Amino acid sequence: MRMNARLGQMLALAVVVVALVGVAHAIPTARLSGVISVPLTSVRRADDSDLHPELVHQQHINRGLTRYAVLSGRAEPSTLELLSNMNDRLQALPHSIRKRFNHGGIEELIRHLSQPLHGEGSSVAGSEKHSFHSDTNLAHTDTEPKGFSPFVLDIAVKKAVTIAKRPTHKHSLGLDIQANDLGYMATFQIGTPPRDFRLLVDSGSGDLWVGGENCKGKDGGSCGKHNFLGPKSSSTYNQSEWMWAIRYGSGAVVGHLVTDHVTIAGLTLESFTFGVAAKETTQFTPDRIPFDGIAGTARSIISRQRSQTFIEALHKAGKIAEPIASYKISRVDDQKNDGELTLGAMNPAKYKPETLVSVPNVSKIGFWEVAVDGITVEGQDLKGMDSRNAILDTGSTLFLAPKEDVATIHSGIPGARYNGKAWSIPCNTTTALALKIGGREFSIDARDLSFVPMDLRNLNGYCMSSICEVNLKGKYGGHWLVRGNCASSPS
Ligand SMILES: *[C@@H]1O[C@H](CO)[C@@H](O)[C@H](O)[C@H]1NC(C)=O
Ligand SMILES: *[C@@H]1O[C@H](CO)[C@@H](O)[C@H](O)[C@H]1NC(C)=O
Ligand SMILES: *[C@@H]1O[C@H](CO)[C@@H](O)[C@H](O)[C@H]1NC(C)=O
Repeated sequence: MRMNARLGQMLALAVVVVALVGVAHAIPTARLSGVISVPLTSVRRADDSDLHPELVHQQHINRGLTRYAVLSGRAEPSTLELLSNMNDRLQALPHSIRKRFNHGGIEELIRHLSQPLHGEGSSVAGSEKHSFHSDTNLAHTDTEPKGFSPFVLDIAVKKAVTIAKRPTHKHSLGLDIQANDLGYMATFQIGTPPRDFRLLVDSGSGDLWVGGENCKGKDGGSCGKHNFLGPKSSSTYNQSEWMWAIRYGSGAVVGHLVTDHVTIAGLTLESFTFGVAAKETTQFTPDRIPFDGIAGTARSIISRQRSQTFIEALHKAGKIAEPIASYKISRVDDQKNDGELTLGAMNPAKYKPETLVSVPNVSKIGFWEVAVDGITVEGQDLKGMDSRNAILDTGSTLFLAPKEDVATIHSGIPGARYNGKAWSIPCNTTTALALKIGGREFSIDARDLSFVPMDLRNLNGYCMSSICEVNLKGKYGGHWLVRGNCASSPS
């Protein structure tokens, strides 16, 4: 889900400003004119297979659970827990459907999930498998005018990338959209001669990496049809002895720390330190993965490379006025393709100053985390939701929250159903939900509440909800993990 684009943008900006600069102005001031914008990110996916939408949904939940655990400093769910989540969902499907969708995909998935994890392996194992039943001819499906957008479903099934228009503001990069608003990608130039690398922009991590020339997949195979960096392709490449590793909610990479030239929106860092992957898990290696690496835009306090983020480095080098970034997130369904990441400033063309709010940083550890003062449905406050913290994470595909909160939110969505694990809602819901942040309501577009139709041929039936419960052990302390385009924010 996503907030009203403008409000969301505002929020993103406000959060960035506060978190990085530590100020709390309600309106941009001259001092903030050099503020950075933070990027949005989202999903990573893996293999093509033949999965029922419910299982695709569970994959995203599993990914979110791990991410939630990582982001909130909890023990990650075990492979067994994730497998059992998936099994529960599978068992809940009617037999006929299980059979119809079980062209090897599910068994393969379960097999994959059952495999023991290796050292640098993904803790989410297999949950990245992420695809839709392919023998439905979506392009020619008769659809009602309302319900889940056939345009978006087609993009989801094709896993298409929506290319951003040229940015309108200086120090800005267009944000290409991965599939159905799953992630946001910007193109950086790296090495000598400079070559393009498309990086997923992730507000929930603080490291930048690309694959190395010798990159190997977990299975020893190649790292796919991507752009790689190394001494053969860059004369300024300088690899150190230092190793580095990072594990995301989905996928993991390990490699060396290197320095090389990196150019972002025309601004060049001549000797920037970042990671080059020697090994990647299957979330990153398939040819179909549309990005060559990840650019983290949380604060370097959480950097696994223990080095500055590119935003901090640009600021330190005097290339941008403030160590911040702002994002304009574009929704695939709007077909505007005007997503932008602006460095060092807020792009005045992308928000209305009167709707800007700034809120204090509540993250103890470098995430983009804000206090949420409540959630409203059709303008009415939902009870008992008045003090939550939300990490604004472009790397999440879902809005995750503790079970009780998720139930309360769905109590406000007419027709919402719970199957004991996950919620589904009418695809054509028009319910107006809003998060209260900094004294202002940030609306969530009703289209963004529907993650994927339960039956891909019935776009006006039931859809899996984008708001999902976390079922990790232990207490959550009211944390929410808000998908990047949900609150349009940096996390
Ligand atoms: C590579 O980096 C090392 C360590 O930072 C440095 O000492 C060395 O001079 C660099 N080499 C080149 C060719 O720049
Ligand atoms: C937020 O504040 C905490 C505690 O003061 C600090 O450690 C953390 O780095 C800050 N986070 C950000 C994103 O500024
Ligand atoms: C949603 O679809 C259902 C079933 O087709 C229909 O009864 C209902 O009126 C629709 N709701 C809206 C808001 O269009």
